[in-house]
Amino acid sequence: WHTPQSSPKSFTQTHNRKKGSSLCSEKCVLQALQVKYGDLYQQDNVVLSGTHTHCGPGGYFQYTLFMITSGYMKAAIEPLVNGIVKSIDIAHNNMKPGRIYRNRGELDDSSLNRSPHSYLNNPEEERRRYKWNTDKQVLVLKFTDQDGDGIGMISWFAVHAVSMNYTNRMVSSDNMGYASYLLEQDKNPGGLPGQGSFVAGFSSSNLGDVTPNTRGPYCVNTGLPCDYLNSSCPIGGTKMCQAFGPGEDMFESTRIIGHNVYLKAKELYANAVEEVTGFIHHAHQWVNMTDVTVQINETHTVRITCKPALGHSFAAGTIDGGGDLNFTQGAVEGDPFWDGIRDALLGQPSNQTKECHHPKPILLSTGEMNWPLPWHPQIVDVQMITIGSVAVVAVPGEMTTMSGRRLREAVKEGTLKDMEVVIAGLSNVYTHYITTYEEYQVQRYEGASTIYGPHTLSAYLQKYRGLARAIAQDRVSELPAGPQPPFFTENLFNFVPLALFDRKPENMSFGDVLEEVYPVYRQGDVVTVTFVAGNPRNSGDIRDKTFVTVEIFDNRTETWEVVHNDASWETRFHWLKGSNWQSNATVEWQIPPTALAGSYRIKHFGHYKELKGLQPVITPYEGSSDVFTVTASFYYE
Ligand SMILES: *[C@@H]1O[C@H](CO)[C@@H](O)[C@H](O)[C@H]1NC(C)=O
Ligand SMILES: *[C@@H]1O[C@H](CO)[C@@H](O)[C@H](O)[C@H]1NC(C)=O
Ligand SMILES: *[C@@H]1O[C@H](CO)[C@@H](O)[C@H](O)[C@H]1NC(C)=O
Ligand SMILES: *[C@@H]1O[C@H](CO)[C@@H](O)[C@H](O)[C@H]1NC(C)=O
Ligand SMILES: *[C@@H]1O[C@H](CO)[C@@H](O)[C@H](O)[C@H]1NC(C)=O
Ligand SMILES: *[C@@H]1O[C@H](CO)[C@@H](O)[C@H](O)[C@H]1NC(C)=O
Ligand SMILES: *[C@@H]1O[C@H](CO)[C@@H](O)[C@H](O)[C@H]1NC(C)=O
Ligand SMILES: *[C@@H]1O[C@H](CO)[C@@H](O)[C@H](O)[C@H]1NC(C)=O
Ligand SMILES: *[C@@H]1O[C@H](CO)[C@@H](O)[C@H](O)[C@H]1NC(C)=O
Repeated sequence: WHTPQSSPKSFTQTHNRKKGSSLCSEKCVLQALQVKYGDLYQQDNVVLSGTHTHCGPGGYFQYTLFMITSGYMKAAIEPLVNGIVKSIDIAHNNMKPGRIYRNRGELDDSSLNRSPHSYLNNPEEERRRYKWNTDKQVLVLKFTDQDGDGIGMISWFAVHAVSMNYTNRMVSSDNMGYASYLLEQDKNPGGLPGQGSFVAGFSSSNLGDVTPNTRGPYCVNTGLPCDYLNSSCPIGGTKMCQAFGPGEDMFESTRIIGHNVYLKAKELYANAVEEVTGFIHHAHQWVNMTDVTVQINETHTVRITCKPALGHSFAAGTIDGGGDLNFTQGAVEGDPFWDGIRDALLGQPSNQTKECHHPKPILLSTGEMNWPLPWHPQIVDVQMITIGSVAVVAVPGEMTTMSGRRLREAVKEGTLKDMEVVIAGLSNVYTHYITTYEEYQVQRYEGASTIYGPHTLSAYLQKYRGLARAIAQDRVSELPAGPQPPFFTENLFNFVPLALFDRKPENMSFGDVLEEVYPVYRQGDVVTVTFVAGNPRNSGDIRDKTFVTVEIFDNRTETWEVVHNDASWETRFHWLKGSNWQSNATVEWQIPPTALAGSYRIKHFGHYKELKGLQPVITPYEGSSDVFTVTASFYYE
């Protein structure tokens, strides 16, 4: 989790089939489904599983901590909710009888444990049962129609989708989205991204301590290794300790990891023969995570969870992006300097909360901060769906590798013995990380971000065992629904300034070209063109639109055919805000080696806002580059 910097200087779009970061307003989606489908889709049988990304817009989560960093904005929420509902509509309208097959395999060289020191604190006999300190399993469910023709697939692999680091300002897919893009391009030949009937989903799992930056961390200022225990550097501290790779920059790293995941999923999909048959079951409960108790003997229960709080090491960040202040991971003692500032600004954590979270030194006692709205959720969703022999466990946060293993075992152990159990991470509501009790003691970033205290995982194990038992014994209807989470309608806020109006250079129009293309390119070249632009935020809900097209002239039909849009990996759209309310947009097209030789043009579509009197008026515009030629890059001798 990172603090997005407000008011980005540039806004870029490469590939907008984002999977919706961490969650949407779950409730808004369910309300929309209720209106359309009555009771068919509801809390129990709909899971919204998100991704951890640095490439998507924020602004859709109601709790105060998240509103401070990203705001709560209709303009962010509506497209997200409408997009999710639309994809459910499309699926619903295409429903037909079919078959499901499952397959699994291991993927190497695509993930690394980013807190090995925490992992090593787990009991040795437990660790000895596993070969690796991350889960390398890829699980694939293949969907076919009754004739055996593939119609889609969903897969799970445990890795953070943060190949794109937090300096990125583009709306884009990360590694998992790129894998989805590649497989869908494969199965829907000639289609633009997101079009065509085949759907390939790549979902989050127990990725809490798993980085895709496989060259690992080192001190970028000295080239030396970071400190193993606290991931900091002798000079420059945490911020200098960064993980990179496998590529030379974040785009190449995204491409390589995404390609690895895609290849493995494709192979597993092609060879999936084990049919999934049986019934579908689902169970859902709301749990007040501040109030989970265990029975210690016949007469007594004790509360094992705490009011939410973040530890000092939360502010240190990780090797996937360090914090800006002088916090380090692994802090089990507070820093009087920061504690003093915190006490003065926000108040002191209560002794009860301090004790409950021990050994976490509390930085933000979010469970005791309720102004203007609660800073963190108390009520969370626990949910499980079984499809024949596959159990999908929907977890409202980012479980570490070992937490996930314990959870899968707990679900199997009790009652669902022969099941393939998979963890669907970041589901329904976001509650940061979930470590094991032993990992928590070390208080690296993940432990400091385990917000309900050291027994958070134990509480979840108990709850999910309950769901598994209810499903196995066919007693789901007896599960108490639990306390409803609040839905706030007042005191929501955001600090992101409005896009006021757009200006253009004198004697020019929006969409005019400021810097033209060259007349001729070869495959492998990058074409760039810059347009007079309006603020992309004026384009509103752009889900079914594009800021960019790359078009080829078809000599036979004498028409222009779109070969790429802004969701294509091959295109980048950089919006640059200049002075005096003027801005421009540069479109880049990386010509792939597979591009046909021919005549091309690049178009840009946008909207500008002007004030007529005091009334804002938004007007669409478009512009086109000159026509240019792409030639094959081989030589005739
Ligand atoms: C990190 O840990 C090392 C010991 O492993 C220690 O020398 C160093 O001071 C620590 N750095 C910080 C910033 O706490
Ligand atoms: C992010 O990636 C870029 C390369 O694409 C690199 O220059 C930059 O240092 C990285 N930043 C962090 C914080 O990892
Ligand atoms: C959760 O439980 C605690 C302790 O019983 C209670 O004080 C709190 O009001 C509950 N939270 C909500 C949102 O109901
Ligand atoms: C149950 O545990 C409580 C708290 O430790 C203790 O006071 C009580 O005597 C125990 N009761 C029984 C029946 O063991
Ligand atoms: C962090 O910086 C503050 C202010 O300079 C200082 O008082 C504090 O001791 C520093 N903390 C650590 C752990 O270095
Ligand atoms: C909290 O604990 C401290 C130190 O143990 C103690 O001095 C203080 O009185 C306690 N505060 C309350 C409100 O009990
Ligand atoms: C705009 O065009 C007019 C007429 O062609 C010309 O006289 C004027 O100098 C131009 N202004 C600028 C800023 O280029
Ligand atoms: C686009 O805008 C940026 C920021 O104002 C400016 O630096 C750049 O020169 C502009 N590009 C062109 C081609 O006008
Ligand atoms: C299309 O026609 C133009 C003009 O006749 C010609 O130069 C070009 O090579 C043709 N392109 C293709 C792909 O056939």
